[in-house]
Amino acid sequence: MDINKEILNLDWDREPYGLYEPIEYTLAAGGKRVRPQLAMIASQLFGGKDEEVLPAALALEVFHNFTLLHDDVMDKADVRRGRPTVHVKWNENTAILSGDQMLIEAYKLLSGVPADKLPRVLQLFNQMATEICEGQQYDVDFESQEHVTIDEYLKMIRLKTSVLLANALQTGAYIAGADEQAQEALYQFGINIGLAFQIQDDILDVWSDPKTFGKAVGGDISCNKKTFVYLEAKKRGGEEAKRLEEWYSQVLEDNTEKIAVVKEIFEQLGVRDVCEQVVEDYTRKAMRILDTLPQNTATEQLRQLANKLNTRKD
Ligand code: IPE
Ligand code: IPE
Ligand code: MG
Ligand code: MG
Ligand code: MG
Repeated sequence: MDINKEILNLDWDREPYGLYEPIEYTLAAGGKRVRPQLAMIASQLFGGKDEEVLPAALALEVFHNFTLLHDDVMDKADVRRGRPTVHVKWNENTAILSGDQMLIEAYKLLSGVPADKLPRVLQLFNQMATEICEGQQYDVDFESQEHVTIDEYLKMIRLKTSVLLANALQTGAYIAGADEQAQEALYQFGINIGLAFQIQDDILDVWSDPKTFGKAVGGDISCNKKTFVYLEAKKRGGEEAKRLEEWYSQVLEDNTEKIAVVKEIFEQLGVRDVCEQVVEDYTRKAMRILDTLPQNTATEQLRQLANKLNTRKD
């Protein structure tokens, strides 16, 4: 089943256009479709039927895109997937309301899973959705919190990013009839690839090619986000760490100089290699969990996907 095609087939040609057009615009802009892919593969791993997991896979992608609409307002991000974000192309009210509607549409899609599976699927989905809000709140709190520990950071990214990947995998496995132990193993695989995924995202914010990245480079620096790259640099201490703290205590209109200087400090401290190593470590940990599961083409696809995400450019 071509999951991308299924997403593009969702019909948003409804009135009022001001509400639905931004949804169409967002979902048509592409994206890696990681979450629905994970749900589909997790189901296949246990011999599930694609059409039974499809409603959940679609719900996960619509939900993910909803979080992006609101996230881009919160992060003052002007570009995503190489295009103006909804709050820039339209306005903030549109990003809020079309985002809200996407959340509702995600629930409508989710309710299409087999009826006997729906209560548990909903329970898992609700828990995940709450955790994402909690993670997003920590993320914003940390912008103005001077000291953030690596443990606090890891908890924050587990909540804002990992649980969605983990939920996609667990839900796919559950709908396919996997036992609880296998569901839990896949969930933990998702948590670990999610940590790797978000740290990679933090790396890309500093060191990516604006042409392939699709987002504004240095957006996290402008917002004083306590990313893994920043925390790793701060850990080195010394004069550079002080200069970083100084830059991260400011909220500026024009961030050009700040981004250039901070990037320079990160490079002087040579933190990129360590960050990349940590991405590798979480991926390796995830792979070991996969070894405990049935081995078939789906397991292999999960390995390939996890590896691909590490070397992604967007
Ligand atoms: C962006 O997710 C938000 C993060 C968790 C970093 P993706 O990198 O999966 O975004 P798309 O859907 O591929 O554009
Ligand atoms: C994304 O984190 C987490 C959610 C959207 C829930 P980021 O804010 O780092 O994602 P990008 O970099 O904007 O895609
Ligand atoms: Mg964010
Ligand atoms: Mg963001
Ligand atoms: Mg990011």
